[in-house]
Amino acid sequence: MPHRSPPEAPLFPSLEEDAARVQAVRDLADLARTIAHHDRLYHQLDAPVLSDADYDALREQYRTLRARFPDLPPPPDDPETRVGAAPAGGFTKATHRVPMLSLANVFTETETREFVARARRFLGKASDESLPMVAEPKIDGLSAALVYENGVLIRAATRGDGTTGEDITAQARGIRSLPARLQGPCPEHVEVRGEIYLSRADFLALNEAQKAAGKDPFANPRNAAAGSVRQLDPTITASRPLGFFAYALVPAPGETLPMATQSALRECLHAWGFTLNEPARLCDTVETLLAYAAEMERERHALPYDTDGLVYKVDSLADQARLGTVSRAPRWATAYKFPPEQATTRLNRIVVQVGRTGVLTPVAELEPVTVGGVVVSRATLHNEDEIARKDIRESDLVRVQRAGDVIPQVVEVFPDRRGPDSRPFALPDRCPACGALAVREPGEVARRCTGGLTCPAQALEGLEHFVSRDALNIEGLGTRRLRELWDLGWIRTPADLFRLESRRDDLKTRDRWGEDSVTKLLAMIEARRRVPLDRFLFALGIRHVGDKTARQLARRYGTLAAWRRAMDEARDETSAAWDDLKALDQMGPDMGRALTAFCADGHHRALLDDLSNLLVVEPAPPPPTGTGHPLAGKTLVFTGTLTGMTRAEAKALAEAVGATLASAVSRATDYVIVGDKPGSTAKRARELNVPCLDETAWEALLEG
Ligand code: IVH
Repeated sequence: MPHRSPPEAPLFPSLEEDAARVQAVRDLADLARTIAHHDRLYHQLDAPVLSDADYDALREQYRTLRARFPDLPPPPDDPETRVGAAPAGGFTKATHRVPMLSLANVFTETETREFVARARRFLGKASDESLPMVAEPKIDGLSAALVYENGVLIRAATRGDGTTGEDITAQARGIRSLPARLQGPCPEHVEVRGEIYLSRADFLALNEAQKAAGKDPFANPRNAAAGSVRQLDPTITASRPLGFFAYALVPAPGETLPMATQSALRECLHAWGFTLNEPARLCDTVETLLAYAAEMERERHALPYDTDGLVYKVDSLADQARLGTVSRAPRWATAYKFPPEQATTRLNRIVVQVGRTGVLTPVAELEPVTVGGVVVSRATLHNEDEIARKDIRESDLVRVQRAGDVIPQVVEVFPDRRGPDSRPFALPDRCPACGALAVREPGEVARRCTGGLTCPAQALEGLEHFVSRDALNIEGLGTRRLRELWDLGWIRTPADLFRLESRRDDLKTRDRWGEDSVTKLLAMIEARRRVPLDRFLFALGIRHVGDKTARQLARRYGTLAAWRRAMDEARDETSAAWDDLKALDQMGPDMGRALTAFCADGHHRALLDDLSNLLVVEPAPPPPTGTGHPLAGKTLVFTGTLTGMTRAEAKALAEAVGATLASAVSRATDYVIVGDKPGSTAKRARELNVPCLDETAWEALLEG
């Protein structure tokens, strides 16, 4: 038998070959890193800098090199094996060896004095004995615990519920102000705790970038920091300018800390390379503590980050140990919360904005006023219930407050300062962006525009949905590109996608498109001119209509025209068409109404007409009768309890032989299977002359 060896590197490569292999390892690693970088720009940040052609060239270069040296190990971020940029699962859990506590709060001078007095009493301090305290700013960020072994960061975890958090080691390694290795001598095992945060300037810059990428801005630096850390892809975390403040130290099991005071502990953290909350002050008396608080309250806006208060900690670590903890908060520390910053001003007007999901949000336009060092001219009013509860009206004198968030809130109004023309405010029942009906569904606080795809405020979101994988599945049209096409006015409705061909030459000359990617995209759109009815219905993005409902609708109505006719008839809720629609499995009145309202809307009618002219919407295949089973293609309704099998089992069996299940009887029902204690369904079936089967007959029919 001829001996066949697997292709592998020669046993004794020549010197030249050696050098080439070494170079290949380096080049592969460089290419992989570059590709990963561009993947991230494209997929996560929606801000690619390479044309598709240049990106493809990089990939090709990488593939060629890999093929030339197949025995070389792939680099860590090998683009061929990396699926997307992020691991598939979520974060792994990390249990804290010592629970991460929270802090009790004090809000006033009196409460501050009480906190100190309590600690003194507990420690049995004489009235002339001082109890030094360290006071420092409290940063509202995301607390994290960092475990160092022999000075090297081996694990980072979020606080979570205090006992178990999430492992964010990879993310923490990307935070520059968080040392991966402690400087100078340190114990073998130590845990440093602190706060991950974003400075105010970096927060504002990040929000600008979010907005430019068509994403929602963060409400406050805390959310932005948390959002940046909770990225499965650590390279995103690394791209955000996060900071870290260290404020606590946990010794190794069975050991005690080498220093005697909190102040010394701070110095130690600083020496290891950590940034600390500044300005901190060691205060010998309550009076100096209160003076510090007053000073900080005045100066807080000069700090580069947002602070919501101060933390007071007993300086002596021995005293801290004696004081211990009570209900998950230390007795030796407390947080002093600054009073929220408020101001009084005139509410000029209430404007109603429409969000990307169609929610109408009332926003107060204010006479500009300074609140906490920031000029404020708008305040959020949340929703109509909030407006009614506080009876907020246009032209009111109002008190506004900033509570850390960018957008302040209206705290209260002054009704006795109203003029005679003052009227309660009502949210419009039409969308201010497109004029479609805005409805509030039972149980919801939000009023929502029903314009969907045809509402300019929601169009981009709708377009993204229209091209998404389970809808028309048009690749290469991310948020950024859709936005660009929208801004150019070339695409306003999904139908415009199918007219994009006329822009071929204009597109090719645009930055970051390039000939190849335009050709690819237009070919893909062309290929989607034939689309199955179920995908088409799903793509419309009708509220409540997911892919499963879309499939059911397609199966039930067969063609786009038949579906539209049926929806028009079903607008009359006494009609047989409405009964038919409602009889579909899981179809409630809300979903039914969303469907009929969608089809009745003038903009949507025009859109559907337009799309019908441009596309071939393929009729749904008839229900699977091919099984030859007598139940194949039949529509069944169950009522009452079956004794021989569960409802889920019956449903699975029915579907397996090609039957469809409905939840209510209509003329389209073939059989009603009546179990024990049937509901009104059985009666209705008799009225409609739908054959009823008892359980035995059902089982016999099932047997075929
Ligand atoms: S000391 C036993 N110091 O505020 C807890 N915490 O509201 C010792 N925080 O969970 C915490 N700045 O995440 C401390 N200078 C500071 C702080 C600080 C912010 C956070 C920390 C804590 C939370 C309690």
